[in-house]
Amino acid sequence: MNIPVLTIDGPSGAGKGTVSRAVAKLLEWHYLDSGSIYRSLAIAVLQSDVALDNLSQITAIAGAMQLEFDCGEVLVVRLDGVDITAQLGTETTGNAASIVAAYPAVRAILLQKQKDFRRLPGLVADGRDMGSVVFPDAEYKVYLTASAEERANRRYKQLIEKGIDANLFQITREIEERDRRDQERATAPLTVPEGATTIDSSSLSIQQVIDAVINLVR
Ligand code: DC
Repeated sequence: MNIPVLTIDGPSGAGKGTVSRAVAKLLEWHYLDSGSIYRSLAIAVLQSDVALDNLSQITAIAGAMQLEFDCGEVLVVRLDGVDITAQLGTETTGNAASIVAAYPAVRAILLQKQKDFRRLPGLVADGRDMGSVVFPDAEYKVYLTASAEERANRRYKQLIEKGIDANLFQITREIEERDRRDQERATAPLTVPEGATTIDSSSLSIQQVIDAVINLVR
């Protein structure tokens, strides 16, 4: 039986996480946050003091790491039995994730871990290459984007609300740098998958985006 999949790809900060989680909950489908797999690997690499250009060590860590996901109200991730949820969202982790994710050998090792999330009654998969590489046969595909300025503004507001000191100029530069790395890498670059519906969230509310995605599936 073909298990339905809805893929939501796009650049960082476009609102994929919030939208995907809400849509998965409404449809009562499973949810894959594929970025958190790359983020978990980045944490494992940083913790082992392995340099981000040491490919053989990084692939060894990718092959050996044990990940457990609790996809409840909030995502809880355990790496080799240790809860790493608090470190998942930091800029250091995100930037290192983008670097390790550019290695084809790393992507090959992590591919099956992602495919394993496809279970009945269905899956909402959020990432950069969900519709193009991991689930090319997905029934529903969305490409969710927003301007770099808007994404930087949202990230800045989030950090300030959390009481974290932030610099809008630096965040914009980091977002542009990460976009460039995710789009220009040779393997599974960030692209609009064939057959995907593009939604630009720059001037839409989260609820408007959720409604647009749900309409696509129903
Ligand atoms: O979506 P995110 O910010 O959590 O992703 C972190 C990094 O992981 C992102 O910069 C690129 C990488 N990534 C990827 O290469 N492929 C995916 N499907 C998801 C994330």
